[in-house]
Amino acid sequence: MTADNARSLQGRVALVTGSGRGMGRCHAELLAERGAAVIVHDIMPEGAEETGTLIRGKGGKAHVIVADVADTAAMAEAIRAGEKALGPVDVLVNNAGIGAERTGIEEVTPDWFQRMFDVHVKGAFFATQAVVPGMKARKRGKIVNVSSIWGQTGHEYGATYCAAKAALIGLTKAWAKEFAPWSITVNSLSPGAVITELTLRKGGMDYIREKSKAVPAGRFAEAVEMAYTVGFLCSGESDFMTGQVISVNGGQVIVGI
Ligand SMILES: NC(=O)c1ccc[n+]([C@@H]2O[C@H](COP(=O)([O-])OP(=O)(O)OC[C@H]3O[C@@H](n4cnc5c(N)ncnc54)[C@H](O)[C@@H]3O)[C@@H](O)[C@H]2O)c1
Repeated sequence: MTADNARSLQGRVALVTGSGRGMGRCHAELLAERGAAVIVHDIMPEGAEETGTLIRGKGGKAHVIVADVADTAAMAEAIRAGEKALGPVDVLVNNAGIGAERTGIEEVTPDWFQRMFDVHVKGAFFATQAVVPGMKARKRGKIVNVSSIWGQTGHEYGATYCAAKAALIGLTKAWAKEFAPWSITVNSLSPGAVITELTLRKGGMDYIREKSKAVPAGRFAEAVEMAYTVGFLCSGESDFMTGQVISVNGGQVIVGI
């Protein structure tokens, strides 16, 4: 296998959840640039259509599906429609997510708690359930679960988010073992601070400048800097890597012994 072959996603079909903007859009565009036909998914139709148009504008293949990732039946139907259009999914990036509560425990309602787990954990679980039988049949597959450094370190104002992101790491490790006999790899991307709508909504560029002080690299990442790692985890370059949590964080979290 040459380096170029290992990197190429030519002939593969990728599904990126929550790819109507932010990091998800970047992952979708990068996978398309490397040759994958991409099922673009989001709860927001306009954003998803825009991502589809961007990919097609650069000569790539894209099909848009719209569903709430937490609605298992709607999601399964949308994935079936995407597979009918482009073919069975070889690559799944479980990226769709919502921001942390940014409150203490007193303000967390049962509905909020439920939604956090429904979007991140139930969403990723059942999107994966929908595509794994096809991956097993073809004896190949790449799954990336997007966690967060907060799922590894915790954060004082985001307990439900931290718990849901930690659960994604648990799924990653369990599935890595469960699916390995079919040559399906499962890894987790754990982003540090990234400039997207999600972080800009917390207080614009002032928030980002202030929080950059806590990052040894002195800045937030651009979304594409996460996409490069997703591209690696979705390609043949990472065929012997499974069950791992790859943290891309500008030095903010360095685990020592
Ligand atoms: N931005 C950061 O600093 C950061 C850091 C660590 C982890 N993350 C994680 O990375 C992922 C992407 O985050 P982002 O910063 O690009 O956020 P973003 O808000 O810009 O994008 C998230 C996308 O997911 C979609 N989405 C949300 N809920 C959905 C649902 N129920 N069904 C379908 N789609 C839904 C949104 O519409 C949006 O397009 C998330 O899982 C997030 O938790 C982000």
